[in-house]
Amino acid sequence: MLNIADVELLFCRHGASQYSGEPVTQLQHALQTAHLAEQSGAGDELVTACLLHDLGHLLNDQGETPSLRGIDDTHQYFAIPFLRGLFPGTVLDAIKLHVDAKRYLCQANPDYYAKLSEDSKLSLALQGGVFSAEQAAAFMRQHSARDAVMLRQWDDLAKQADLETPSLAHFLARAERCALAHAAA
Ligand SMILES: [Fe+2]
Ligand SMILES: [Fe+2]
Repeated sequence: MLNIADVELLFCRHGASQYSGEPVTQLQHALQTAHLAEQSGAGDELVTACLLHDLGHLLNDQGETPSLRGIDDTHQYFAIPFLRGLFPGTVLDAIKLHVDAKRYLCQANPDYYAKLSEDSKLSLALQGGVFSAEQAAAFMRQHSARDAVMLRQWDDLAKQADLETPSLAHFLARAERCALAHAAA
């Protein structure tokens, strides 16, 4: 299990790597997603899920643009065992469901698919493609599905070359506030 200092170290060591196919680094993408959530008034748990939603990329580096090599990196699941015990289930579930939220949004809103970046369209196919109506309904019955859909919409906007954000320390302080160790203290 990681602690908050380990999460900070991961971003310091690997955050400067480029986000595959996008004009931002991994750290910029994480900060921008959390920042957009914060601007929308999201609470500590959802802001923290936004900050950490792609932590799997940092823990399991698959190299440049794995989708171009036909690889689904399943990064939405990779970070979960490392974060279990550190954050409540609401944080973990929003992270775990953020890829399925894309499959849901493509089904619910055809315009959404058209606006996806090219790499995101490629990875969608590898991740199982657009949900059927039945799959979309089953998805939305899951706990944290709505959080995952909101996360996903900020995620899609968090690929801007020049978007200013608060620091990593600012968002780690919010993460600390919803950490389980904090709740028990
Ligand atoms: Fe992701
Ligand atoms: Fe992302």
